[in-house]
Amino acid sequence: MKPGPLRLAVLRGDGIGPEVVGAAVQILSAAAKRTDLEIDLTFLPIGFEAYEKNGRTLPVETIKGMKDSDGWIFGPLSAGSYPKDDPDYPMASGKIRKMFDLYANIRPVKSLVNFGRYNNVDLLIVRENTEDFYPDRNLFKGYGEFWPDAETVVSLRVVTRKACRRIAETAFKLAMARKKRIVTAVHKSNVLIEGDGLFLDEVRKISTNYRDVKLREGLVDSIGMQLVMEPEKFDVLVTTNMFGDILSDVAAGTVGGLGLAPSLNSGEDFAMAQAVHGSAPDIAGKNIANPTAEILSTVMLLRWIYSRSGDPKALQASASIEDSCIEVLQTEDISRLTPDLGGKATTQEFSERIIQILESQ
Ligand code: NAI
Ligand code: MG
Repeated sequence: MKPGPLRLAVLRGDGIGPEVVGAAVQILSAAAKRTDLEIDLTFLPIGFEAYEKNGRTLPVETIKGMKDSDGWIFGPLSAGSYPKDDPDYPMASGKIRKMFDLYANIRPVKSLVNFGRYNNVDLLIVRENTEDFYPDRNLFKGYGEFWPDAETVVSLRVVTRKACRRIAETAFKLAMARKKRIVTAVHKSNVLIEGDGLFLDEVRKISTNYRDVKLREGLVDSIGMQLVMEPEKFDVLVTTNMFGDILSDVAAGTVGGLGLAPSLNSGEDFAMAQAVHGSAPDIAGKNIANPTAEILSTVMLLRWIYSRSGDPKALQASASIEDSCIEVLQTEDISRLTPDLGGKATTQEFSERIIQILESQ
């Protein structure tokens, strides 16, 4: 990381992206001011905005700008509505995860407010991010899903020892810093005998280096049920790409929904704050999206930056954002929250409350 101001790239994305990323950046700027953390923000086009400006959802200028930054605050993309087979509409999210080797997708799910059905959930999903069934990530060249004839689609799945090892290592390291110290490896090795067999094999090997962490294993279908019935009993869950993607939405549902689910995509050299949720076209442009997920993703990014740079100001800024956001969420007056949590506040009003608290700390 270069000396000087922290260089952060902001990519607003589609749908509710500009609203929630806008809120996260406003709050980050207030926290930076408060803690004397020098930041230099660069706004880079992505998604529909980039298509209009540059003729591509992921322009080369954007990729270059990302390489020149210390971290990225990234909004969701309406990839599900991009025209199929159009090379100017690549799945930017997946491409970026692969291109920058953001192999670990870290997704904490925690009861912050009493709006979920449970109030003691504190788990962490550690999802492999660069291969598996995701066809935009599993080939060197070309696409891992194709039509051998007009009636048939073949989807390829890739599982490598290296990726399994790295994600297992990440999960055990993270578990060491937690109270319960239990890693649950989630798989489907009864059916995906080779691929998930390899995944389990690597997780078991890594686990032998972490005697203080208990390893549990479970089939993804059964774990899905247990997550819904008893989410409190989990600590760290480690899994392959698609299972992790699905289970993180399931788990988010136990604590109040996607508006509260942050995530960090990280590798050795780069990290990207990106909420678990998508572009939420049903509420886009209405100023009612809950920005918490994106705000707490930004908190995770600041912590990752601290782990690399050692700058205590990055850590202070992350703590002041997190504390003020949680204080606002824990209000007695539910009407001050966004509609997904039963309130009446707009995205902007909710964010302004956070800034108010942050500035009064
Ligand atoms: P979604 O996550 O966008 O929305 C699911 C439901 O949760 C909707 O009812 C939405 O209103 C609600 N929701 C999501 N975020 C919220 C927030 N911050 N505050 C309040 N409510 C929130 O998933 P959906 O509808 O299946 O996908 C929409 C689009 O997003 C698709 O084009 C999909 O491909 C894309 N997508 C993009 C992702 C990314 O770029 N990271 C991740 C997931 C989906
Ligand atoms: Mg998802």
